[in-house]
Amino acid sequence: MVEPKYVAPTGTSDILSPEVERRNCIVDKARRLLGLYCYQEMIVPTFEHTELFVRGIGEATDIVSKEMYTFGDQKGSSFALRPEATSGIVRAFIEHSLYTKSMPQKYFCIGPMFRKEKPQAGRYREFYQIDVELLGAEQPSADAEVIALLMHIFQDLGLKNLTLKLNSMGCRICRAPYREELVGYLRKVEKGLCRNCRERIKKNPLRVFDCKVEGCRHLLREAPELISVLCAQCQEHFEEVKKYLGVMGPDYELDPKVVRGLDYYTRSVFEVVSPSLGAQNVIGAGGRYDYLVEDCGGPPIAGLGFAIGIDRTSLAMKRSGLKGYEDKSLDLFIITTSHHLRFETIKRLDILRHQGFSAEMDHLSRSMKAQMRLADKLRAKIVIFIGEDEIRKGVLGVRDMATSSQEEVPFEDLLDYLYQKLGRKEKWGARG
Ligand code: HAM
Repeated sequence: MVEPKYVAPTGTSDILSPEVERRNCIVDKARRLLGLYCYQEMIVPTFEHTELFVRGIGEATDIVSKEMYTFGDQKGSSFALRPEATSGIVRAFIEHSLYTKSMPQKYFCIGPMFRKEKPQAGRYREFYQIDVELLGAEQPSADAEVIALLMHIFQDLGLKNLTLKLNSMGCRICRAPYREELVGYLRKVEKGLCRNCRERIKKNPLRVFDCKVEGCRHLLREAPELISVLCAQCQEHFEEVKKYLGVMGPDYELDPKVVRGLDYYTRSVFEVVSPSLGAQNVIGAGGRYDYLVEDCGGPPIAGLGFAIGIDRTSLAMKRSGLKGYEDKSLDLFIITTSHHLRFETIKRLDILRHQGFSAEMDHLSRSMKAQMRLADKLRAKIVIFIGEDEIRKGVLGVRDMATSSQEEVPFEDLLDYLYQKLGRKEKWGARG
């Protein structure tokens, strides 16, 4: 083996089989459910004007202040690789006047996101999300539907024992006095806080609840909680969300410390924790953002959504023994016993693939024995032999690998034989 000259950048990875199949399964199942809930797919750029994220996610957040990959162009504009998809979807919603359509509008977007974080298990610099957004509904039933959809996707993937944590972040009216109260408390315990949290007091005090440092977490146990000072409207909204969730089913835990790392959240916020992961155990999270569309230059339209971290979800599935895919096996392997029959072999292979069979042959002029070993390795169900004798007689040698029985099948009967043997319906149309 050679020492690689180039390796993937820190925090990125090459996703190989069978990981690729598990991720494809996550995406396929989520796409199917999103269709049932009437969501439309939207593809937004992987980079946007930096200003959009500054405005949307918030200047003082870790994501914007420390973790964005930004770059300029010849004209001096600044762009950033998207650290999340919500801002891009909201920008597209405004840019294409999608708010003129009947509300609510439901969108999802699947793809890579980029954050310059310190990599560790479950935390990468390039990671993948299924991002889901519902725009144009303030009502608590929309919150419950979105949360139920998130849990439905995880349930469909077979993930069990997940904890759904729920909180309310209130609105601008209840947040302002709460902020003062929290800052007052943090000033009192400032000496015991880490450097990051001391800075957060000035810039973004609510972020202290995201801190993982044990000393800070201990001091924050006594901190005032926003949930207990919500204004009457936010209180009522939250009560209704809980009632709807009660009707729909997903169990949840109230956690007043759930604040999430993005500034646009208002009212309901939630996260889903997997017991099989370590420190980075939140596999999906989201919340309501009733001012974001307006803050990004659109009309006052409420929204909410979530993002599923595909990398972490896949890891949680792997740790729970969930493959998410069927073991691959091959329908047919064609072996040729004579070099000059390779044209005949490749022609047959082509016909069989066009008939919908997964089929393979050897390209490296291996011996018969080695071709047989390869067929075995690829877990071929049927091996077809093409040799001088067979061609002369107008037949093909066909071996059923499960029973090791072999028979001769006339050329013209081969497709019918295979349809029957492999339990397939005849493909309409072309015959070779
Ligand atoms: P977020 O909480 O920043 O929310 O990320 C959502 C999920 O993406 C996390 O729960 C986690 O599973 C995954 N994730 C985040 N950062 C990383 C990382 N560095 N490495 C691996 N996985 C990661 C948002 O992004 C919001 N835009 C969600 C949303 C949509 N809120 C409303 N609408």
